[in-house]
Order: sequence, then structure tokens, then C-alpha cells
Amino acid sequence: MHRSTPSSRAGKAVQDSGQAVRASAARTLVPVITAKGSLADLDDHQVVTRDRALFRAMCYGVCRTLPRLEALAAQLLKTPFKARDADIQALLLLGIHQLLYMRIPAHAAVGETAGAARLLGKEWATKVLNGCLRRLQRESAALQAEVDRDPGVALLHPRWLLQALRQAWPDDWRAIAAANNEPGPMTLRINRRRGDREAYLARLIDSGHEARLCNHSPDGLVLDTPCDVQALPGFSEGDVSVQDEAAQLAAELLGPVLAPRPGGRVLDACCAPGGKAAHLLELFDVDLLALDSDATRLARVEDALARLGLSATLLHADATQRDWWNGTPFDAILLDAPCSGSGVVRRHPDIKRLRRQSDIPKLVELQSRLLDNLWPLLRPGGSMVYATCSVLREENDEQIEAFLARTAGAIATTPQELSWGRPVGDGRQLLPEPESHDGFFYARLKKQG
Ligand SMILES: C[S@@+](CC[C@H](N)C(=O)[O-])C[C@H]1O[C@@H](n2cnc3c(N)ncnc32)[C@H](O)[C@@H]1O
Repeated sequence: MHRSTPSSRAGKAVQDSGQAVRASAARTLVPVITAKGSLADLDDHQVVTRDRALFRAMCYGVCRTLPRLEALAAQLLKTPFKARDADIQALLLLGIHQLLYMRIPAHAAVGETAGAARLLGKEWATKVLNGCLRRLQRESAALQAEVDRDPGVALLHPRWLLQALRQAWPDDWRAIAAANNEPGPMTLRINRRRGDREAYLARLIDSGHEARLCNHSPDGLVLDTPCDVQALPGFSEGDVSVQDEAAQLAAELLGPVLAPRPGGRVLDACCAPGGKAAHLLELFDVDLLALDSDATRLARVEDALARLGLSATLLHADATQRDWWNGTPFDAILLDAPCSGSGVVRRHPDIKRLRRQSDIPKLVELQSRLLDNLWPLLRPGGSMVYATCSVLREENDEQIEAFLARTAGAIATTPQELSWGRPVGDGRQLLPEPESHDGFFYARLKKQG
């Protein structure tokens, strides 16, 4: 009779947890690979604490490299899996990803990924997965060379997006694609109402983190190694938030408008989850109306402001309408418009699967309706900052060019002398940079008095 010893039981528990984390990752990935859901609400509580970083790395890593993993899976399978076996397809992608992109011993990548099929109730798939992954080990170089003949596969982007990047940025598209494929750094914004960033940097270092000051945002710090927010000193007390450096630059454009008019009435028309709204409130004494059409996301703004000790009027409403407006004009408006997210692909790699080419004209139309609807709400002499986290010109400088052409009394006042980005038309474009900021566009517009 076989008796389990403490060490064999411990070995089995580790193995089970290895299979469990892969089964959970496969379940999480099914909606993304079938283009039905996103990773936005990734819940890592479904795996044991020790495996959470691995779980996140696997889910995000598979999304980041999806076009190449799928091309390799197609080479490895004699016939594709049936639609009802999308979880097994996800396991195959996870296995390929571990073998090619993660520092996981190959025997664990193969054995525990194949074994995870049992936890999904599909014992039959263990043999198929084992066979495919072992073949990848044997024929790795040849299979990779074959799929990389397609530039979309080699550069890990859907073909339409690569084409759009190439058209918008003929000299930079490869660098943008490369930046999209690397996870962005974890960037912090200190709450200036509670201290300055040099003091916070010292606290970070005292608590064992390595970090440096951001180059462009005076409130930003970049961590050398990402960590759980609860490990940041003073996070719960509101001393600091997580926000990319490019997103922190809205405050620089709004500063000259807001600082001289304490108590000014400001509209943040697309505010959720509240990063830019909170930053403005940390820096300026303004009367902020923060509006968003997504109630769930608006609840996150409430939480963020409560943690940071800030206050604004929050409103669940549609900024393409005016039924919510009380008729009092705003001194300044921030329109951080819904967009393709093509500048933040590295933070939301599921964009590569979920965003369609046909979305772009619809987004451009929505942005132009938001501009036209909100502009009359600005007082004469007031300013609007238009922002997107896109690198596509039709959402950015071309959008602003068309708005200025059809809007009497609107002039661009985007500063020419800035340490960041590059001038494009009447705005400023940042392209995503490894170890630095995301891709963003800003334009400042003034209503002539
Ligand atoms: C780029 S995000 C805003 C990010 C936010 N400004 C921040 O810094 O955290 C765009 C937001 O626009 C909202 N939105 C989309 N269409 C809208 C509409 N018609 N009216 C108001 N908000 C809208 C979305 O729900 C989303 O939260």
C-alpha cells in the first residue's frame, strides 16, 4: 500500500497549486481570447496568495503575445479545438507562453499546464497538450521562424493596428510596437497636499523600494520593481496613487488656467476612474464637477477621492447631452475622451484582441460630439484641455484641427515649449517609451472672450 509521507504530500500540494493557477489563468483568459471580455477586472483572489504574481504574469503575458501564441498553436494542432474547448486552447497558449517567454523550468511548464486540463474536467486534453508542448520544445526554432514571416505575428500586433501605427508614424511605428510589447513601469503620483516627492522618495527607499523621479511630471516617481499598492508607505492614508507619467501631464496644461482663479468652476467630463480629477484636486483649490456615463467606474472615483481626502461633485451622466447642466458656465473643462487606447496597449494588452478597426471611426465621431456638446458650456475666456491615450492621429491632432475649423472663437493655446512629447498640429503627442511614459495626446483650447 502506498502511504503518503509529509514530503510527498508537500510535493503534491505544490504540484496541485501549479495546476490550479494554470487552470484559473485559462478560465480567466477564455473571455479575452474569444473577444467577449477584458482583463480589466482580473481577480487574483481565485488563486493562493503565493501564486498571485505568477497568475497575473501569465494572464497579461498571454494577452501581450497572443498573435504569436495563436499562430504557433495553429502550427501545433492538427485540427483546431472546438469552440466549447476554448479553455483548453487557453491552456495551450499558456503552455507556449511559459516555454517561450517565462523563466519556468520546461518540465513544469509542460507537465503542470497539461495536468491543469484535469482540473477543468477535460482529462482527454492532457495528452494533446503534452504532445503539442513537447513538439514545440523539439522544433522551437523552426516553428518560430515559420510564424514570424508574418510581421503582425513577429511584432505581436493585429495586422490592422500595425498598419494604423505605420501610417500615423512612418518613422516610429516599430519603436511604438516594441514599447507596446513590454510591460510599462509602475509610476506613482504623490499627493502634494500631504508632502513632496523628495520626502516620499526617501520613505520609499527606507521601506526597501528602489525608485527614481519622473523626468517630466513634477509629482511623479517610477518604481524599479512593481509592487502591491498596499506595500507603498502611506497608500491607505492617501499619500500616493498609481498613475502613469503621461496622464499626470494634464495638470501641467491646466495649471496656468486654474492656479490664478482659486475656487474656479471646473468640469471633468469623462472622469472615471478619477486619476486626473484627483491630481487636479491635489494641486488646485477648485470646485470640480466630475462626470462619467459609467456608474461602476464612477464608484471608483468616489473611492479614490475618499482615500485621498479630496472632494468633488460626482455625477452619473452623458457628456454628449446637456440635460444635467445647471446653466452656469465652467472656467475650465477637461475632456479626457474615450478613445482607442492605442497609447496604453502595454498596460491593457487585451486591447490587441478586443479593439476592432471598425471601432476607430465610431470613437472619432463620439469624440467630436463630446467636443461640440461641451464647448458651449465654457465661459468666454475659459479653456478646455482635450486628451486621449491614443497615438492615432484621427483621434488627436486631426480631431482638433477639424474642431477648430468648424468652431468660431476657439483657438489653440497648447504651449510650444514643453519638456515632453512632440508638437503635432495644434497639440502635443507623447509616444509610449519603455521604462517611461505611455502614449498620450493633449491639446489646450481657449474660448476667445
Ligand atoms: C479615458 S477614460 C477617462 C480617464 C479619467 N479621466 C482618469 O484620468 O482617470 C474615458 C471615460 O469616458 C467615459 N465616457 C465614455 N463616454 C462618455 C459619455 N458619453 N459621457 C461621459 N463619460 C463618458 C468612460 O466611461 C470612461 O470612464
